[in-house]
Amino acid sequence: MLKTEVLDIEKVRADFPILKRTVHGKRLVYLDNSNTTQKPKTVIHALVDYYYRHNSNVHRAVYVLAEEATESYEGARRKVAGFVGAAAKELVFVRGTTEATNLVRFAWGETNVKKGDLLVSTLMEHHSNIVPWQLLARSKGATLKFVGLNSDGTLDMESFESLLRESPKLVAVTHCSNVLGTINDVAKICAKARAAGATTLVDGAQAVPHMPVDIKSFRPDFYAFSGHKMLGPTGIGALLAKKELLEEMEPFQGGGEMIREVFLDHSTWNDVPYKFEAGTVNIADAIGLGAAVDYLADLGMDKVREHEVRLLDYALRALAEVKGFHQYGPLDLRKRAGVISFNFADVHPHDLATVLDEEGIAIRSGHHCAQPLMRWLDVTATSRASFHVYNSYDDIDALKTGLKKAGGIFKV
Ligand SMILES: Cc1ncc(COP(=O)(O)O)c(C=O)c1O
Repeated sequence: MLKTEVLDIEKVRADFPILKRTVHGKRLVYLDNSNTTQKPKTVIHALVDYYYRHNSNVHRAVYVLAEEATESYEGARRKVAGFVGAAAKELVFVRGTTEATNLVRFAWGETNVKKGDLLVSTLMEHHSNIVPWQLLARSKGATLKFVGLNSDGTLDMESFESLLRESPKLVAVTHCSNVLGTINDVAKICAKARAAGATTLVDGAQAVPHMPVDIKSFRPDFYAFSGHKMLGPTGIGALLAKKELLEEMEPFQGGGEMIREVFLDHSTWNDVPYKFEAGTVNIADAIGLGAAVDYLADLGMDKVREHEVRLLDYALRALAEVKGFHQYGPLDLRKRAGVISFNFADVHPHDLATVLDEEGIAIRSGHHCAQPLMRWLDVTATSRASFHVYNSYDDIDALKTGLKKAGGIFKV
């Protein structure tokens, strides 16, 4: 097999049990990694081991199981925070990126955003970085505006700067687009937004799984990502924010664990980050995410990124040879993650995905939770192939062959 020579693909693939299965009698070619990734054995074992040997609630009891569970949960917090250059106290475990932006909407937005304020997002955002700000703007009487895009799918910095001149309260931007693959210059964006007095939120859902991220280097006020897109379990993710900012904020949900003392007429709050983790937390999945971080750190995020750049390069060249293939997003590989959204002549993406599924190839089709971006692209939907550590050139060859077959069926 032709390989990128950056990762040991046979060894990596052997770590992912699901890749051994077949689909419609064909080898599974999994190319829907921006949606969710597959899980290595170490992550699956961490979940099973927790329930087999350590299951109990955290932070409450003094017996051995409870202490083991607490140590594993807090150990996962240290690992996951460290993975992106943050301290454990700066990490709130949440369900995922969507819960993180909603937490900020309520716990920060409801007290800090006032009538007449401006909130800024961009045209390339996932709905989870648009809809919470629409809801916040509506409840507070604020306005929401969007940074435009250049024709190559990068952010239009002039449009950004002109919005900054209106002194926005919040700038909410993605680190990397789940459709175009565009990697935004978050250091520049956060520095300019900070200078304009805005609070910054960066959506790292498509960055943390694919490239080295050190949030100290761009100092966002808030940074969010999801575990299931980085080889970890579903239902767990992270919101990062400076300790002082978390301390200033109101709680998100009220209940057990998030309090220090409860009286009949008022309550006081636990230390951060626990103030934001009301109720029984998702212990097993946090531990599973810790195992995913260990796996990625062992591979090395520089290598993960380089591997994807090579796959992207190979795929863009190979697929461009297929009649009817039209891709979206920047062609500069250094500005782009391993995501290829495309259309195929006038074949509907769902029809294409169905034909490819017959070949064992899993791609995503639809609007990718980015309908404003679809309108900007002037399409209702796209097909999308996205890579991770277990993909190699053979997967791209399979996609190319599948596209040609679909071309025959649909008379492209
Ligand atoms: C860029 C981006 N942001 C946010 C999300 C939402 O993530 P989740 O569904 O895990 O909350 C996604 C998921 O596709 C995404 O790609």
